[in-house]
Amino acid sequence: MTPNRKLLVLPGDGIGPEVVGQVLRAVDWLARRRLVSFDVTEGLAGGASWDKHGTPLTDETLADALAADAVLFGSVGGPAYDQLPFEQKPERGLLRLRKEMDLFANLRPAMVFGPMADSSSLKSELVSGLDILILRELTGGIYFAEPRGIEDLPDGTRKGYDTNLYTTPEIERIGRVAIDLARRRRGKVTSVEKANVMMSGVLWRETMQQLFEAEADGLETEHMYADNCAMQLVRYPGQFDVIVTDNLFGDMLSDCAAMLTGSLGMLPSASLGAADPVTGTRHALYEPVHGSAPDIAGQGIANPIAELLSFSMALRYSFDMGEDADLIDAAIDRVLASGLRTRDIMSEGKTAVSTEGMMDAILHELDTVS
Ligand code: IPM
Ligand code: MG
Repeated sequence: MTPNRKLLVLPGDGIGPEVVGQVLRAVDWLARRRLVSFDVTEGLAGGASWDKHGTPLTDETLADALAADAVLFGSVGGPAYDQLPFEQKPERGLLRLRKEMDLFANLRPAMVFGPMADSSSLKSELVSGLDILILRELTGGIYFAEPRGIEDLPDGTRKGYDTNLYTTPEIERIGRVAIDLARRRRGKVTSVEKANVMMSGVLWRETMQQLFEAEADGLETEHMYADNCAMQLVRYPGQFDVIVTDNLFGDMLSDCAAMLTGSLGMLPSASLGAADPVTGTRHALYEPVHGSAPDIAGQGIANPIAELLSFSMALRYSFDMGEDADLIDAAIDRVLASGLRTRDIMSEGKTAVSTEGMMDAILHELDTVS
């Protein structure tokens, strides 16, 4: 058996190394029980990289990421790095990876596992069976556009500014991903911007509308302002299938959608580049939606499920291993149904487990379901 699946693992900071460490046990399980092995290399990102190399991402690690079939990312950031200059902050390492790998399409599914419907802050009838996909543009907009800066003004005050900017090709390429995903799901696309206030939003809406007319035959399409979308998400989330939106609105709406599911600790994401026209392969990075959670880091209580589901997405989107991904998803569902909970999703009558205990149970279920 030749290990030809190149997986670069970047655990990062905070709870990242704990949850990634547990997911590597699932990687081992696949090698042992399904005879599929990965060529796993580990690297440093974020604060961990800064500690060793004085930068949140080295050129070598970036080169490794570009050469890998997939990157499995933990999380970055923490109070120890708050005082660093802006360009050296842990988050800059992640943003550089996204930009240099051209990972323009960020898929953030928000789904409610059956056994978790009562953990949402919404009434369970509103979220039970919920399965929506936020598609966030990830390499453009206000996160990257110039000019940006902080400047002194003649009167001694200062100004800080950023630029939101999208070109038609950027809007069209993320729109096409939304259309493609909706065709494989329930056939609805909601495009979200603030065309009532922002020029970039006007262009976004016009361009999406033209794309829908030309390429979204048979799909249900609509446009929605971002503030309304935030409200609709908590009012009646079941109306959505695929929500496609820009970098900043996608950041906010995905946190909101994540919480609908009962825990941020449950949600994975995939960040994908364009498919190579010849080989069909694409750069890809998989990471949980949750952050580094410095307040609980090192205590062995973090929820490993979002990281594991991120790996499951890697199996689906980068390694064409949908069947193995299904196994992992089913094992997670069964463990949740059995009542085991990490602290973030704990509720009355359930059994508390550690990070490792959760993974023990999932591996045990994997043995059973496979
Ligand atoms: C996310 C995070 C990042 C973002 C931070 C860590 C830079 O909030 O992935 O949603 O703002 O994109
Ligand atoms: Mg965010």
